[in-house]
Amino acid sequence: MALAEQPAAQENPLAEGLLLRRSPDPCTLVIFGASGDLAHKKLMPALYALALRRLLPPRFAIVGVARTEGDDDAYRADMRSAVQQHARDPFREDVWEELAASLHYVPTEFDNAGGEDRLHDLLGRLDEERGLGGNRVFYLAVPPPVFSTIVEALGKRRDGRGWTRLIVEKPFGHDLESARALTARLCEYFAEEEIFRIDHYLGKETVQNMLALRFSNGIFEPIWNRQFIDHVQITVAESIGIEGRAGYYENAGAIRDIFQNHLLQLLALTAMEPPIDFTPESVRNEKVKVLRALHTPSPRSVVRGQYGRGFVEGVEVSAYREEAHVAADSMTETYVAAKLYVDNWRWADTPFYVRMGKRLARRETTIAIQFKRAPHSPFEETAAEGLRPNVLLVHVQPDEGVSLAIGAKVPGQGMAIRTVHMDFLYGGAFRTSMPEAYERLVLDTMLGDSTLFTRGDEVEEQWLLVDAIVAAWQRDRPGFPNYAAGTWGPPSADDLMHRDGRSWRRH
Ligand code: BG6
Repeated sequence: MALAEQPAAQENPLAEGLLLRRSPDPCTLVIFGASGDLAHKKLMPALYALALRRLLPPRFAIVGVARTEGDDDAYRADMRSAVQQHARDPFREDVWEELAASLHYVPTEFDNAGGEDRLHDLLGRLDEERGLGGNRVFYLAVPPPVFSTIVEALGKRRDGRGWTRLIVEKPFGHDLESARALTARLCEYFAEEEIFRIDHYLGKETVQNMLALRFSNGIFEPIWNRQFIDHVQITVAESIGIEGRAGYYENAGAIRDIFQNHLLQLLALTAMEPPIDFTPESVRNEKVKVLRALHTPSPRSVVRGQYGRGFVEGVEVSAYREEAHVAADSMTETYVAAKLYVDNWRWADTPFYVRMGKRLARRETTIAIQFKRAPHSPFEETAAEGLRPNVLLVHVQPDEGVSLAIGAKVPGQGMAIRTVHMDFLYGGAFRTSMPEAYERLVLDTMLGDSTLFTRGDEVEEQWLLVDAIVAAWQRDRPGFPNYAAGTWGPPSADDLMHRDGRSWRRH
């Protein structure tokens, strides 16, 4: 598609938040697994959003590769309806037409030499016709067992022209050993700098805002430590179930699906030291130090759960074991809570309580920094009955924003004090809709910026912790199901807090 005469991002009012970024080089984006859910619900809508904001490279092509039969026209029609259904912006015919003209499709089995040839020929032709310089982003949105085949096929055909980047979807391995083996396999053909391991939580605006909040304000850093913070609570709650993904989820469970990646990344961003700059290595060096400092929790400090039947938002839903293709005696956990410690000078003895689960009462991802109580209250004891300790609450989603709980005097003659909230809401402060994580991450890959992607050593540290927790689980067999769908998880998760004289944040 020819976008050369279009305004630069600086002059483009729709390019909010991405102002002053350079334009990516001309390139081809090749999506393996192009007929799958991710392509329909996330990738194509993200590409459409970027096209609408004129943020795609001036010369560009997309090639979808999948096993499903089809041709360019059928794929364009399919993607058109995906965009109409899932894009965050209104559908504009002119924008779609321009994007669709750059869209191609290659149906093939992933280990088929004939298919490889057809893809290779098409890429060569697009390079020539559109002047794409051999620059390529390969997006592996396929199940992990086929990664290896695709990577080898791509690696063998590298010809040194242009740059190549590889986006690898999660799960990145199943444990430490398989993650290492996968990295080793990728590194046979690609350098670490060319590998972009996606954790889509890092592409969320509110997650990036954690860095802005901590490191662009002078007031937080002096109190962001064990002396002022009593504890941290991180919640990744979902009201949805497994949405037909039993094949994957039965082997993953909440610990591999959310804890290993999204949850630990939220924790790392909350706990990391200030990086010296916002470059990929500086930011990731600081995160990996946090992951290294996490010590393995004792079995008493980890709770796992599985949902039984219940009501979610008024609708009756089945138990996990009743979901299609889930074993009737499945021991897969759909909920995990844990007390973690980051063993370093900043955080020693400060617990990080984390919890995540499916079929909880509602969708909510938050990071709550709970400060210690004021050391002394000069007011009568009864004055502050309604006062809770200060909490800085980062609403990752929904209702994106940040809120600070403080004590305030209740109007009137006496001195009664109550907790009130100072709120910053994205929706109110910025008159714009929030970009989807994939928009940011696809664009960053084209720009060669891996700051918001997980480095190999981070992934390994994450697995090290998960493997230790999973190994301890082999020793007992909890009575599942142990929480009803639509609640906040098993009662033992509350005990985890109560033992320490604390409780989960009320909702
Ligand atoms: C994915 C998990 O990585 O994240 C899903 O595999 C989960 O199980 C999803 O539902 C949650 O993402 P989001 O962006 O909706 O919070």
